[in-house]
Amino acid sequence: MTILVIGATGKTGRRVTAALDALGVAYRPVSRSTPIRFDWTDQSTWAAALDGVTAVYLVPLGMTLDDTEVAAFVPQAVVAGVRRIVLLSARGLDSDDGRERAVRESGVDWTILRPTWFSQNFSEDYFLAEVLAGEIVLPAGGDGAHPFIDAQDIADVAVAALTQDGHAGVTYELSGPEALTFGEALARIGDVSGRSVRVVDVTPADYTELLMQGGFAQGYAEVLTMSVIGIRDGQEAALSDGVPSVLGHDGGSFDDYVKEAAGAWR
Ligand SMILES: NC(=O)c1ccc[n+]([C@@H]2O[C@H](COP(=O)([O-])OP(=O)(O)OC[C@H]3O[C@@H](n4cnc5c(N)ncnc54)[C@H](OP(=O)(O)O)[C@@H]3O)[C@@H](O)[C@H]2O)c1
Repeated sequence: MTILVIGATGKTGRRVTAALDALGVAYRPVSRSTPIRFDWTDQSTWAAALDGVTAVYLVPLGMTLDDTEVAAFVPQAVVAGVRRIVLLSARGLDSDDGRERAVRESGVDWTILRPTWFSQNFSEDYFLAEVLAGEIVLPAGGDGAHPFIDAQDIADVAVAALTQDGHAGVTYELSGPEALTFGEALARIGDVSGRSVRVVDVTPADYTELLMQGGFAQGYAEVLTMSVIGIRDGQEAALSDGVPSVLGHDGGSFDDYVKEAAGAWR
């Protein structure tokens, strides 16, 4: 068994490869910057990535909801011999999502992961520059909370689904164990980093515009804006049971995450 790990340099992908390493499972890590180059926007790179693999951890392109690439890739993967696909989807998407549909209709074993926002967005991605600058611009002032999830827990669930039986045909809703407002999350980051970071409230329309200026496709920028508004209005606070049901223990807490990630903010 060789597992193709797409997005292997990303927040979940590199944790998936580390866990597969620890288990001694063979895998092929790919992204646009790996020795075997894989680019979602360049189909000529797909065959070499798929050569000899039997399972795929499928991280779709971020910043867009376009399903064209995944819909083209999945049948190609099945023809190449892939028998199991674990898709990284997102909370708020449903079975109408084109990428989820492509995986469900693949004819091979599939598992879909729908996580909440990653805690690591504050230390490895979207929000890091803003945390370091002391201000996060979001239409999220207020009391609404969100159970940010540790990317390590998503990776551990993905590895279970890739390497163990019993996860085929299942969609897992994944969240962290505690819902926090953005203000609370930033206060905890402040406690370990000594930084004071405030939320600067903007209108939803201005936020969508900012995301698009940052490279997000319009449709995805609108979905992310709706997600932030959902958090602000308290509709995104529910905890999901996917992590404990697969791993047999609660996911990592936000406090554990900030201790581990503290170096990113110093
Ligand atoms: N972040 C969140 O809070 C969150 C929450 C729920 C769901 N998700 C979903 O997770 C997925 C990705 O997450 P993310 O945005 O947080 O990023 P990420 O997985 O941390 O990083 C993106 C990965 O994709 C690779 N990549 C970027 N462009 C690529 C391309 N054209 N072809 C092939 N690989 C490419 C990157 O590596 P290179 O730059 O080396 O190519 C990197 O390995 C998205 O589908 C998103 O919807 C994210």
